This record gives sequence, structure tokens and C-alpha cells, in this order.
Amino acid sequence: MKKIILQLLLLSFYMKPLLGASSNPIYGQNGMVVSTSQQASQAGIDILKKGGNAIDAAVAVGFALAVTSPSNGNLGGGGFLVASFSNGKTFTLDHREKAPSNSYRDMFLDDSGSVIPGMSLYSRAGSGVPGTVDGLIRILQDHGSGKISIREVLSPAIRLAEKGFLLSYYEARQFNAYKAFFERNDAAADIFIRKDKRPWKVEDRFIQRDLSKTLKRIAKHGRDGFYTGPVAKMIVEEMKRGNGLISMDDLFNYSSKYREPVTGSYKGYEVISMGPPSSGGALLINMLNMLELYEKDSLEWNSSDYVHILTEIERRAYADRAEHMGDPDYWDVPLEMFKSKEYAEIRTADIDINKASPSDEVYAGDPAGYESPETTHYSVVDQWGNAVSVTTTINLGYGNGCVVKGAGFFLNNEMDDFSSKPGVPNVFGLVGNEANAIEPNKRPLSSMTPTIILKNNKPFLVIGSPGGSTIITTVMQTILNVVDHDMDIKEAVCAARFHSQWLPDVIQIEPRGLAKDVIGNLELRGHKIVPRGGYIGESNCIMIREDGIYGGGDCRGETSAIGY
Ligand code: GLY
Repeated sequence: MKKIILQLLLLSFYMKPLLGASSNPIYGQNGMVVSTSQQASQAGIDILKKGGNAIDAAVAVGFALAVTSPSNGNLGGGGFLVASFSNGKTFTLDHREKAPSNSYRDMFLDDSGSVIPGMSLYSRAGSGVPGTVDGLIRILQDHGSGKISIREVLSPAIRLAEKGFLLSYYEARQFNAYKAFFERNDAAADIFIRKDKRPWKVEDRFIQRDLSKTLKRIAKHGRDGFYTGPVAKMIVEEMKRGNGLISMDDLFNYSSKYREPVTGSYKGYEVISMGPPSSGGALLINMLNMLELYEKDSLEWNSSDYVHILTEIERRAYADRAEHMGDPDYWDVPLEMFKSKEYAEIRTADIDINKASPSDEVYAGDPAGYESPETTHYSVVDQWGNAVSVTTTINLGYGNGCVVKGAGFFLNNEMDDFSSKPGVPNVFGLVGNEANAIEPNKRPLSSMTPTIILKNNKPFLVIGSPGGSTIITTVMQTILNVVDHDMDIKEAVCAARFHSQWLPDVIQIEPRGLAKDVIGNLELRGHKIVPRGGYIGESNCIMIREDGIYGGGDCRGETSAIGY
């Protein structure tokens, strides 16, 4: 099972097109949408052109991605949204999945207390109660312009599902690569394997009739079209085909939640990001605080000093994540510690510029005194300067592999983001503890980091990425590429990245990501450098400048930035 999981993970990375040279950012005067899918970005732009605001457009993009990007865009999962409006209002919506009410702490352990390989990932028990539909409908009703109806935001998605869309080369290739995976679930095989069993080809029309019916039910009944009635019953029936735990009550009771953004600053820029149950925003701010203590000039982009210092900072931040982070409704997360500039100073005090600190000698900090492969990201800016940053996921590519029969969408395997057992790594190699143990109705800890950077109190960067545990370091490097290394937004999202996370005690690098002499220098300091075998993240971002709006779709994917 471990081998299958590894192969699937690597597969999702191999599917990415080769990292090409960066082209120019896309320019727009009035609005911009950047997502992983051309059809989804177009759905958002069409709403903006009709006079909708960034929220209306983001909701249209979200539903369109559920059709055009089934490996990660979703109805069966959850996500986080961060918004900054031109009137100064900022807010976040947590629509992360929740553990079913019948879940329990040791549900993924066998009688001897060992983690059952693959159970949290590839069985129906791996699914949390989906949150995306509740979140998208709620945000539309609360913060949409009021000029665009639920029907209008859903109509591109319904059309794309019902009439189909033409597969790109990479989409066809990805479906073909996952054929054996789809064969494990009849409903998935019915949709994602060609009727004649032959390989998908570029420009094959891909139709999803069951999904279109589900989307129509949501268009007609709002959230009830998903959380009650036929779709809810189909989800519960799907659970009964295996060991799934989601009940009708769990679906009915699911509610997304507004949370205070987690905020910080970096060299005069304001950082607005997602707080717990995502670890993303707090870790990002904590790491930027630590980095601010170093002179920019001494840390040239991707030099050995730069990689070394970032790695040391990441090691410390991820050690704190493992110990202190969980769903804030269940665990007292020391947010002030993560945000504190003083804590950053204490935390960096033992960093040696010439020597790696072994991770088994780095422990989580003490909060006392400080109390206070697969996801997708899209960014939207409208004509009024409102900015929306959304990261959404069903966890790994195609979630747990189970399509809800009759409803046409994959279910998440987000339960793997909990700590099944203290100290035992999840699929992203992340370890956790009590703070992130499974409890009924709790939300698993996430790394998703939808973020907006303000300059002079106005949105300047709209950022985020998929990539599991690498999301936070991807977002940080994208910010640094702009703020410290003067890159435009396209260069910033396409530039080579590296990643480390305390445990495992390694620096992962992309193909051709670091020069040989830099690698040699880092090894001399005691770092272990590991090729990732693929690329890190897919950062779909926007930069807003005096003269207009610039979109940067990551060169690692078939991304689409559309402006107008
Ligand atoms: N499922 C990956 C994350 O939320 O971090």
C-alpha cells in the first residue's frame, strides 16, 4: 500500500509540464482571475464583466473547477477563503471538512496500535464532511454584489458538466495515468475511463452528467441541494459501500465559519492570511518575522546562505506546528506566539550561519507568555480593487478515489490531515500530536495559505498554492521573490523553489532547482539535499500596481490568468 501511495503522489508531480522559462504576466485594467483551469478563469471573468464583484467571480470559479479540475477542484472537499475589500474590510471563511460525529481518535489504528497503511487515504473512512458547497453559497449570499444570482454563478459549471469540455493534452494524460486508480471504484471508472476503454486523447469531449444534476440541485435549492435530499442520501449510501462514517445529520449540521484573519507585517507590507485550523497563515507570519531579522543583501536569491537560513527558519516553524497547531474550536492554539516579533528573535537566536541544526535537536517553542499531491488555488481581483484568495482541496489527487455514485464527484481523504498517531507522519511527512488528534466534528489541521499582502492599506499581492506541507514555504518564497528580489508576478510564481519542514530533516529541491555548488555548500554545513522528483506547488497569483492588475499563473501547471 505504501508503494501505491508513493507512486500516486509522484505521478501527480510527474504530470506537471516541464518548468519552462517564465513569460510575461497577464495584464488587466479592470479585473483578473488566475486559476489552474482556462474554463474556470473564464467563468470568473464573465461574472466580473457582468458587474459582479470578486466574491461572485470566486464562487463561479470554485464551482467551475469542480467540473474542469476533478482531481482537486471540488464539491466533495473543503477550503479556505481570504478576502480584502477596497473599503478596508478583511475577512476569512473556513469551509474546511469536519470529522464525522462517529469518528474517534484511534480509528486508523489496528489492534496493536499501529497505523493501518492507506486507511485514512484510500477508504471511505478517510472522508471528512465536505464544506465547499456550504462555504461558496454562504460567501455569495453574505458578500456577493447582490447583482448575481446563485443560478448565474453556477451556470458555467452546469454547462461545462452537461455539454462537456475538450480535454487538454495534460488533462487527457492525467486521466490515462490514473486509469488503474479509477478502476478501483465503479462510479469513478464509469466517468473517468473512456467507454471504449481506449486512452483519452487531446480534444476528447468530457461530459459529467451526474455532476451536472448535482450542480442543478444546488442552483435550485442552495446548500440544501447538497446537504439534504437526494445528494445527501447518495453520499450516505456511498459511505455504506465501505467503512465511511458521514451521516445525514453530519451533512445537515455542517456549517462553514467566519474567522478572524491572522495578520502580521513584513518590511512594511501587511500580511492577511488564514488562521487555524490552517497552520498556513500563522507559520507564514512566524517565518517572515524570523526572516526580517536578516539583512536582505546577505541573502541573495537561492544562494547557499539563503537556502540555509530559510531551512533553519522552516525547521523551527514546523516543529512548532507539530506541537501547537490544531482546530482552534478544540485546542488552544498559541497564535500570539506565532505572530510575535520577539518570539521570532528568541527562535532564531541559535541559528548558526555555517551549520545546520539537526532536527532531532530542535524542539517546539514554549508558548507560555505568548498567549494571546492535491489542492488548488485561485485568485480574483475586481474593478473596485476587492481581492479574494481561495485554496481548496480534496487532499490528494482525486481524493480517496470514491466517486459518490449518482452524484458524480470525488470524496476527500482529508482525515489523513489529522495526526492518526502521535509522531507517525501523514502522507506529507507531517507529524502531529494531541493538538491535531481525531475528535468528532473537529477540523483537521491544514497547510493551506490563501493570503493577501497589503501595501499602503490596499491589496498588493493575492497569493496561494496547492502542495500539502509545501504550501506555506511556496507562499513565503513567492512573497520574498517580489518583496526582496524584485521579480514581477510571473517570475515570482515560476522561479525554482525548495522546501523543508523540520521532519524529515532534509531540503527538497525541484529538478534543476539549485546550482551544484550551492548544493555542495549546503552539504558542507550539514544539510541533506533530496531531489523531490517533481515540482513544488502551483502558485496562481495576482499583483496590483498603480498602472493595473497583473496575473501570474504558475509555469508548473496548465494555469490560466485572464484579465480584462
Ligand atoms: N490537505 C492538505 C492541507 O489541507 O494542508
